[in-house]
Amino acid sequence: MRVNQHSDGREREFDTPGALSMTSLLGRGAGQAVANPSCAVLDDAADRRGDYPASIARFDLDAIRTALPVLEHSTYLNTGAAGPLPTYARDAMREQLDAEILRGRVLPDARSVFLASLETLRAEFARRLKAPPHSIAITDTTTHGLNIALWGCLGSGAEEILTTSFEHTASLAPLKAISDLLGAKVIVYQAPPSDFDCDAFMSLATSRTKALVISHVDWTSGLDIPLKQVSTAARERGILTIVDGAQAVGVIDVDIEDLGCDAYAFPGQKWLMGPEGIGGLYIRPASLEHFHLTYAGPLSFERHGGGLQFDLKADCSRFELGTRFRGLAPGMTASLRWLGEHVGVEAAQARLRHLRARLVDRLLDLERSRGICVIAPNARSGLVAIDLPPRLSAPDLSVTLAQRSIFIRAIPGPNLNRIRASTAFFNSEAELDRFVGELDSELRSI
Ligand SMILES: Cc1ncc(COP(=O)(O)O)c(C=O)c1O
Repeated sequence: MRVNQHSDGREREFDTPGALSMTSLLGRGAGQAVANPSCAVLDDAADRRGDYPASIARFDLDAIRTALPVLEHSTYLNTGAAGPLPTYARDAMREQLDAEILRGRVLPDARSVFLASLETLRAEFARRLKAPPHSIAITDTTTHGLNIALWGCLGSGAEEILTTSFEHTASLAPLKAISDLLGAKVIVYQAPPSDFDCDAFMSLATSRTKALVISHVDWTSGLDIPLKQVSTAARERGILTIVDGAQAVGVIDVDIEDLGCDAYAFPGQKWLMGPEGIGGLYIRPASLEHFHLTYAGPLSFERHGGGLQFDLKADCSRFELGTRFRGLAPGMTASLRWLGEHVGVEAAQARLRHLRARLVDRLLDLERSRGICVIAPNARSGLVAIDLPPRLSAPDLSVTLAQRSIFIRAIPGPNLNRIRASTAFFNSEAELDRFVGELDSELRSI
């Protein structure tokens, strides 16, 4: 167990579950996994319920939750907005911050240590996506990655971009800026409620459509999109597929080469449970030439020969700029290693599916008795969206529940009265029941 020293001299046991220390997490090279500590056996009923293979379901939930101190006092069902930060990430960032404060920032080895931390993180991101590291750029956010891909793929202003009605502002905002500045036309597929028809979507493409941008998981409904089908259809028509993976990476198995998309942006802070301000962008190596550099920095180039003489990097890291807070990459790496080595990627995803199915079951009972509507009940994601009767306002409910330390979110939108709960591997069955119980009591009281 790791004990942290507070500035007032108190020691606080905040801590890292037994076997893994910070050094063991960050000091190990890529590919050297530790055995998944298997302790608690979840109850037999849980094993029988839903998609929850016993072989990978036996991880130590208590130890996992110890690394997430926020869970001590809250029912956290909002990982779709930002996952809780594990103590490992805090420790890694604190170590860097302390080094900067105590030793200084511009030391002879500072730059090389920083660059090495980016390469370590790149390898970890690549492993999560089953991608070659050179196909990954380290970005600030999903929005940042989408901007790189969207601005970068356009040439003349006569091109069109196809998108859907369920996109996040992470892509809608750049699309608006692109259409204002370059005059590119944006075609929006109006998706039926919690449904997606690939043929109907692709039928909107024209000979001028340069790219499409689509979410892997719809953040408003939790619906998962058949991405391979979309990217295959797009490639047949010579259209680039750009994906917002914010609600998918860490939730479903993202085998990026098999999915076949050209660009895929994802965040660190949601289902990968890293700090805010760091994320990734995958670009298919064979498609790199289709994404121009629209802005650049020292890290975009292999060599600066003076003046405007630069040798551009050959791989996706050309989209990186330069300086950033040096604690971010080690913090993100610590979260990824904790997830990969202590929690177990497959086990986490299986547990998340089990919890989602369980929550949906409970909510379908309420649907019959209390007039709510569970959206996309069979979706493969970690998001459960629920339409409320008009007399119970979604924003008000999310505030009321937050006052009781239950964290969900209201989904904004015209004529929408919807809340969204995220089921993450670290949630307990009791937490889901608590949420359903509170929702039931609010529905009964209106
Ligand atoms: C689908 C989707 N895309 C993008 C974002 C924004 O992500 P980021 O803050 O990493 O840009 C979110 C959530 O905030 C989201 O749900």
